[in-house]
Formats: sequence, C-alpha cells, structure tokens
Amino acid sequence: EERQMPWRKKWIDYEGLEGGEGKKALARRAYEVWVSEIMLQQTRVSTVIPYFNKWISKWPTIQDLAIADHDEVLSAWKGLGYYSRATRLHQGARAMVERNGGACPIPSGAEQLQQFPGIGKYTAGAISSIAFGEAEPVLDGNLVRVLSRQLGLYVDREDKKSNDFLWRVADRLVKNASGFPKIKRSMVPGQWNQALMELGSTLCTPRPRCDQCPIRRTCQAYAEAKKLLQEERVTS
Ligand code: ADE
Repeated sequence: EERQMPWRKKWIDYEGLEGGEGKKALARRAYEVWVSEIMLQQTRVSTVIPYFNKWISKWPTIQDLAIADHDEVLSAWKGLGYYSRATRLHQGARAMVERNGGACPIPSGAEQLQQFPGIGKYTAGAISSIAFGEAEPVLDGNLVRVLSRQLGLYVDREDKKSNDFLWRVADRLVKNASGFPKIKRSMVPGQWNQALMELGSTLCTPRPRCDQCPIRRTCQAYAEAKKLLQEERVTS
C-alpha cells in the first residue's frame, strides 16, 4: 500500500478531460512532482513535507513560480540548504513558461524535460513517469542499491559503465511493469518507480531488513548471504 505524501495523487488519465481543464490539472501535477523531487534530492521526506506545502500555497502553479521574485524563492528555501536547487527550479520554470506557454508548459517526455535548467535524467524520469504516466526510468542511490542487490552485482557508483547498465535495467523494468495492464499486480510507471525508491529508502537500506522485504525471493544478494550463513553453520 502507498504511503501518503502531499505530492502523491492517484494517477488519473487527464487526456480524457474536457478542453484546457485536463491540461491544467496535468500541469499542476507535473509541477508538484517537480518541486517535490527537487526538494527530496538531498532532504528527507518528513523535512520536505512542510516546505512543500508552504511552497505550493505560495506558488500553486508553474506560472506563479515563473513570475515570482527570486529573493522570495530563496527565502522559501531557507532551511533546506543547497540553494542552487531553488535557483535552478526557478530558472527552469521561467524557461518552460517562456518557451512553451499554454495550459501545460511542462513537457511529458523525459528527453524534452532534460533540456531545461536543473532537470537531469533522474528528475526527468520522475516527472515523466509520476505525473504523465510515461514508462520512463529513474535511478538514484536507492535504486542502485535495490537493483544491484537483486541482480547480485557489485556496483561502483562512480563507474559510468555500471551506472549506464543499471539505467538500462531500470528502463526495461519500468517498461515491463507497465506493459501488462491486465494482470492484477500491474502498476503504472510512476507507482513502479516510487515503489522501488521507497523499498530502497525503508527496507533495502545500507543495513537492509531482508526479513521484511517483499522481493527477497528474487534477490541474489539475499540468496548468497543465506548460503554463506548456512555454510558457516555447517562448518562451525
Ligand atoms: N524520494 C525521492 N522521490 C521520492 C518519491 N516520489 N517518493 C518517495 N521518496 C522519494
């Protein structure tokens, strides 16, 4: 089951909504996901929640943020640290509203999203999957840990080859997970990505709680650890 967070809304296919209303709702959602993901990059969920709520009441839409005073933006960030995140979020909002305009200036594709300040591969994947329901991957430190343990790989986070490989894994998984709409446990891409993020931040942590993990049966690292333990028991 999903934990409640103010930026988490039920996934709705807004395409079917009348006129500009669907687009506006989608823009609002994409903007909220964007703000939350930037805030969450170096900060814990419990710290982010009050900042997020204040931010959204101050600037409810991307258009509001685009015309905001930069000093006010920085002051709303006070306490979160890493102020360049706020600056680039503000720059990104301005650039999107200028370049795209319309009811939903935020593009849905991960590629297009990455053309704006402050939006890298991770943030683009998060906005695209969580807000727009596109089967785009995300990969952060938590997912690196989850995926490499599942696959039984030793992964050096600094190594570009390992990192590229795990992006391809994440990509294939999110596309598979969303490719079977008929099966009971299918998930929309945003749910899939967030489930993996959450597994990595709650159970599959640096000191994992495998006894509570719902996917330990498929986990190579878990299987190997169990085997080692048994061998030790036999020989000692
Ligand atoms: N950490 C970063 N993004 C997150 C999200 N969408 N849900 C939970 N934890 C996160």
